Amino acid sequence: MPILHPDDLHAFVRDTCAQLGSTETEQHLVADQLVGANLAGHDSHGVGMLPAYVWGALSGELAVNSHPTVVQDLGALSVLDGNMGFGQVNGFETMGHAIDRARTHGAAIVGLRNSYHIGRIGHWGEQCAAAGMASLHFVNVSGHSPLVAPYGGREARFVTNPICLAIPGGPERNGRPTPRVMLDMATSKIAGGKARVAMEEGKPLPPDTMLDAQGRVTTDPSGMFKNPKEGALIALGDHKGSGLAIMAELLGAALIGGPTMQPGNKRASNRIVNNMLSIVIDPDATGAGDGFAAEAEAFLQYVQSSELREGFDEVLLPGDPENRARAARAEGVPVDDATVRLLRKAAINAGLSDAESRLS
Ligand SMILES: NC(=O)c1ccc[n+]([C@@H]2O[C@H](COP(=O)([O-])OP(=O)(O)OC[C@H]3O[C@@H](n4cnc5c(N)ncnc54)[C@H](O)[C@@H]3O)[C@@H](O)[C@H]2O)c1
Repeated sequence: MPILHPDDLHAFVRDTCAQLGSTETEQHLVADQLVGANLAGHDSHGVGMLPAYVWGALSGELAVNSHPTVVQDLGALSVLDGNMGFGQVNGFETMGHAIDRARTHGAAIVGLRNSYHIGRIGHWGEQCAAAGMASLHFVNVSGHSPLVAPYGGREARFVTNPICLAIPGGPERNGRPTPRVMLDMATSKIAGGKARVAMEEGKPLPPDTMLDAQGRVTTDPSGMFKNPKEGALIALGDHKGSGLAIMAELLGAALIGGPTMQPGNKRASNRIVNNMLSIVIDPDATGAGDGFAAEAEAFLQYVQSSELREGFDEVLLPGDPENRARAARAEGVPVDDATVRLLRKAAINAGLSDAESRLS
C-alpha cells in the first residue's frame, strides 16, 4: 500500500479545494481535519472523503466559502445554521463561538444545523480541549439514505450518529493542549466509512457488523454500495447503542431545528448533512478548581491499574489508540491504491491539472 507523507496529502487537499474556489483559510481547515483524521488512524474520515466534497461542491450541494450564521441566541444557548457550507469551517467557527460563550457563562449549549459533513467529531472535542474546555457532542447524519438498522430491525433507519465526549488536560501537541481522555465513536459497530474502506481494499468487514437484505449477519460490504442499498450496519451494543443513535438524532438534529433521517427530508445519494448539539463546559466554572485534574488523574490511574483480563495485555483509555496512531503515522500515512485513484479523479474533476502525477 502506498505510504504518503502527511504534508503531500495536506497540499493535495488544499490545492483541490483551491480549484473549487475555497479561500486559503478554508483550504487549510479542510486539509487539517482530513489529514488529521488519517494521522489519528481514522482513514474512514480522512482524505478519502475529499471526492464526496468535490462532488458536493460541483453539484451545488456544498456551499464553498460559506460561514455559519447565528439563528438563535440566548447567551448560554445558541443555534447556528451551517448553510450547507464545508463542515470543517462550520465546525471550527461554531466551536470558537461555543468556547467564547462557555468562558462567559461557565457553560454553553450550541447547536449547529444544516452543515455539510463535519468529519471526525474528535476534531471538535480537540478544539474545545485545546481551549481548556470539557465537551459533549451529539451528532446526526442525514441528507442521504439511512445505513444502520435499529435494534430488532433489518432495514436501516438512521446513520452512524457519532457521539464525542472530551476531557481536557492532556499534554501539548503542536503547541496546543490536547484532551486527557476523549471518547469519539460512531453508534454503529463500525463507522460507515470503514465499510467504504473495506470495500475499496477488497477486505471483509469485521464479524457481526452488518446485516444483508434478508437480515442475516454478513461480512460482505458490497450491499452498502448498491443502489438502492441492500442490508444495514448493526448498531453497537444491541438495544443500548441503537438507543444512543436515536437520542443523538433527536438531540443533535430535531432539538436544534435540523433535519432528521425521516423520509420527508431531502435525500440525494452523495449528500452528507450533519447536525450537532455541543455542550461545552469550563472546568474553572464548576468549583472543582485544581481538584478536577487531580481527581481525574487519580481515577484514570485506578482504571488502568486493573488486573488484566484473559487475552489482553493492557488497559487503554479512550483516545490512546489515536495518540499511538499519530506517533506511528507522523512521517507516512498508508493510503490504498483505490483511494489514491479516487482522489486523483476527484481532483481532476475539480480542475487540478497535475493531479495524475501526484500522490505517488
Ligand atoms: N461526521 C459523521 O457523520 C461521522 C459519523 C460516524 C462516525 N464519525 C467519526 O468516525 C470516527 C470513527 O468512529 P469509530 O466508532 O469507528 O471509532 P473506533 O471504534 O475506532 O473508536 C471509538 C472510541 O473508542 C476508543 N478506543 C478504541 N479502542 C480502544 C481500546 N482498546 N481501549 C479503549 N478505548 C478504545 C477510541 O479512542 C475512540 O474514542 C470517529 O472519529 C467519529 O467521530 C463521523
